[in-house]
Amino acid sequence: MGLPIFKKRIGIDLGTAYTLVYVKGKGIVLNEPSVISVYKNSNRVVDVGRGAKKMIGRAPYYIDVIRPLRYGVISELSYAVLMLKEFLERADVKPGFFSSLETIVCVPSAVSTVDKKAVLDLSYELGSRKAFLIAEPIAAAIGAGMEIFEAIGSFIMDIGGGTSESAIISLGGLVVNEITSVAGDRMNEEIIRFFKSEYKILIGEQMAESIKINLGIVENPTEKFFAKGRDLVTGLPKGIEISASEIRVALLPLVDEIVRVLKETLVKANPEILSDISERGLVLSGGGSLIKGLDTYIRDKLEIPVIFAPDPLFSVINGIATVFKDLSKYLSVLTQMES
Ligand SMILES: Nc1ncnc2c1ncn2[C@@H]1O[C@H](COP(=O)(O)OP(=O)(O)OP(=O)(O)O)[C@@H](O)[C@H]1O
Ligand SMILES: [Mg+2]
Repeated sequence: MGLPIFKKRIGIDLGTAYTLVYVKGKGIVLNEPSVISVYKNSNRVVDVGRGAKKMIGRAPYYIDVIRPLRYGVISELSYAVLMLKEFLERADVKPGFFSSLETIVCVPSAVSTVDKKAVLDLSYELGSRKAFLIAEPIAAAIGAGMEIFEAIGSFIMDIGGGTSESAIISLGGLVVNEITSVAGDRMNEEIIRFFKSEYKILIGEQMAESIKINLGIVENPTEKFFAKGRDLVTGLPKGIEISASEIRVALLPLVDEIVRVLKETLVKANPEILSDISERGLVLSGGGSLIKGLDTYIRDKLEIPVIFAPDPLFSVINGIATVFKDLSKYLSVLTQMES
């Protein structure tokens, strides 16, 4: 009789903006911003997650604050590994001597082989024996409770911080999928650019995100937000009241790019699938989809029903949790690599 091996199954939604960790038998044990801060000279971790996010734009010169993912891909692999190791430690997840770790990590569906390899390398760095990848829109669709194995077209778009991905899924596979880097982060950047060009005020990333979340893309000249930044002419602090209508004008070109991607997806689908979709509509998931006014804007442009996934911020991790409950059923939607 050999030594008992306890399998630890861990799901990771390694998002550009947020990282979520699921442990089978425990549930979701971590939900933190994908940010790490380190001492510049030693690379020792100062903080990760919420604490590190607060340091963006505020850290002393000897601390680096890093977002290891950009536009849905790992841009700083070593920091992504460091961040995840710290997250797993905080969530009390250690592979241990007598247990073997199995991981499922979600990646954007259009990710390159090099990026896939980076995520798999990362999984092994964490101590995985078996590492699976799952495409983000498929995980989101499963998490949203869509019947992906039926011979019916399911239409989903996940709008995160770094990517917006649309997919039509039928019979357990991607029939059509499209991706754009226009998502939450690009909207924040656009708001920063707008303040610079219109008001000669420099605002920070976190201020831009607050403006986006508070005002959205609704047509409402009376709804306002008091934004604070630095006057680019005098160099001094300056505040200004901005209306929802102004932010709408600034963000609409980006929203239209998301609509274009959705249309492109529909154009590529065949008529049977289109008739399924005109009945069942589009399901939205991901934090970026929560921007006020987006669902009605898309509904007007596409003329199909638009509904939200039950827990838009948790769709991907809930999907991974469902996969772990019945691995053999979902094996065909996973990419597997064994160490
Ligand atoms: N209520 C809201 N209104 C507008 N935007 C929001 C809201 N809540 C969250 N967001 C935005 O959602 C984005 C994060 O969403 P999410 O956590 O799904 O992304 P992610 O999974 O980390 O990114 P990706 O999947 O692209 O790698 C951020 O850009 C954030 O500003
Ligand atoms: Mg995501």
